[in-house]
Amino acid sequence: MHLLDVDDLTTDELTAVLDRAADIKGPDGEDASDLLDQQTLGMIFEKPSTRTRVSFETGMTQLGGHAIFLGPDDIHLGHGEPVKDTARALARYVDFVMARVYDHEDVEGLAEYSDVPVINALTDDAHPCQTLADLLTIREQFGGFEDAEVAWVGDGNNVCQSFVLGAAMVGLDLTVATPAGYEVDEDVLARAADLGGAPETTHDPEAAVADADVVYTDVFVSMGQEDEREEKLAEFEGFQVTPELLGDRILMHCLPAHRGEEVTDDAIESENSVVWDQAENRLHAQKGLLAWLSEQG
Ligand code: CP
Ligand code: NVA
Repeated sequence: MHLLDVDDLTTDELTAVLDRAADIKGPDGEDASDLLDQQTLGMIFEKPSTRTRVSFETGMTQLGGHAIFLGPDDIHLGHGEPVKDTARALARYVDFVMARVYDHEDVEGLAEYSDVPVINALTDDAHPCQTLADLLTIREQFGGFEDAEVAWVGDGNNVCQSFVLGAAMVGLDLTVATPAGYEVDEDVLARAADLGGAPETTHDPEAAVADADVVYTDVFVSMGQEDEREEKLAEFEGFQVTPELLGDRILMHCLPAHRGEEVTDDAIESENSVVWDQAENRLHAQKGLLAWLSEQG
């Protein structure tokens, strides 16, 4: 099976992955140090990464396996070899493929031709591994999903879209505030509706956070959108998460943060910020995912 977006899992499977992650995390976690003995993860990166690369690579080490970093200049993908050939060749060597690419169709192509699981590590449309860590973080903070209300404030981007799906699956109350023209794709909202509930949507950040326990934001200018920078910064005026907007709510951010744009320095450095726990949970969530995937037929 592949994880191209969160809804490739059923809700039961998503819960199983989160439970496995929590079991391995501890404090008295299962000994997972030999779980992926002799297994290898191929990691394709077309875009930069701090958390995703290091958490996957470290996770494989901690599970007894090994990871190979394949940067844009290391392999032929996208310049000299079709995606389907890379997929078939890699699957003859490695046990899992993880890919961070621009075009979502490229992870779909990898998955179509790969005999081993393909994990989406961020495309322009989706970031399911981030959602796993986000849900783990919210579950830790609130002891479940029933008592947490989340407001997304910012771009209806890749991180937001996967979070919308994950929230629908676990029954998390979510409101999404974006500027006009930067909403979550209709297709994602329709999938969320089928999964249990599309979020409330608004163009008003104040209204979105009114009943929220958590405010979640991400950069206004994502990787690959550098040419839209000036236009986007103007369109997103009023969507910055400040201490005033945050109030006593928890702040989440997938990172990297562009302080002074989507979030102020004093908001992200405040006691309300759980961004480092969230970043740490990338490691635990992905270890849970890899362990769970290795046990599927
Ligand atoms: N949140 C996230 O995916 O971070 P990186 O871009 O550093 O991997
Ligand atoms: N939306 C951001 C997320 C980075 C992890 C981007 O795509 O650049």
